[in-house]
Amino acid sequence: MYSTSGQIQKPISIVDLAGMKRSREKITCLTAYDASFARVLDNAGIDIVLVGDSLGSVIQGRDSTVPVTMDDMVYHTKCVSNGCSRAFIVADLPFVSYSSPGRAVTNAARLMQQGNARMVKLEGGRQRAEIVKTLVSEGIPVCAHLGLLPQSINQLGSYRVQGKDSKTARLILEDALILEEAGVSLLVLECIPTVLADEITQALNIPTIGIGAGANCDGQVLVLYDMLGISIGGSPKFSKNFMPDTGAVMDAVKAYAAAVRQGDFPRDEHSF
Ligand code: KIV
Repeated sequence: MYSTSGQIQKPISIVDLAGMKRSREKITCLTAYDASFARVLDNAGIDIVLVGDSLGSVIQGRDSTVPVTMDDMVYHTKCVSNGCSRAFIVADLPFVSYSSPGRAVTNAARLMQQGNARMVKLEGGRQRAEIVKTLVSEGIPVCAHLGLLPQSINQLGSYRVQGKDSKTARLILEDALILEEAGVSLLVLECIPTVLADEITQALNIPTIGIGAGANCDGQVLVLYDMLGISIGGSPKFSKNFMPDTGAVMDAVKAYAAAVRQGDFPRDEHSF
């Protein structure tokens, strides 16, 4: 496997990601939905490429992730994996595609066998523990997602910070511990106070990847189109447009990766 510069690239594994937490090396992650952008991210040295169901908004122009289907996710995961040789590919299980253990296994297998994903991501806390255990027992690595859960937007009513009071913060921390015990290998924390993300990151042995969760998570993720400043309807407070200071997509991605690794992104203005 070669990069465009001709260097041999060793693919990142789940073991490398665990080791990065132990050695306090920040993990960089961005979303991608097609082979060309995936290739840019891969060549820029991004560690994890997330095929997010955010494609519902940024690719399809829908008003949430709810309409995204398994066929959409398989198609875009396949496109992304065709563009990557080094990055670790995580793909989202979309809305209600993991409502039972059997359904979760069938759909996760599609993302891995047809899409070539290395890991699947699902949203939710303790109520997902049995599903996580079943997936892991089948050899399917799982990333969980806590805090703001975009697939639950119709219950939440709006996209807002979660875990602001002590009761909800405790529930999210407990969920994280239960999911780690169930076997998840990675945890995305979206839109929660920095202090809560710090507590969770310290309590867990698995890496946490923050988005709107402060600077002390083990890694950071952004929606690619937000950090390139091209998202329909603008970008959230926790994102940053890296294009104005760089002027080219590859340079913007490299600037993001460097800022995350140096602890220069996110700053307080991107956190809660
Ligand atoms: O779908 C997505 O892009 C995500 C990130 C926001 C973490 O889940």
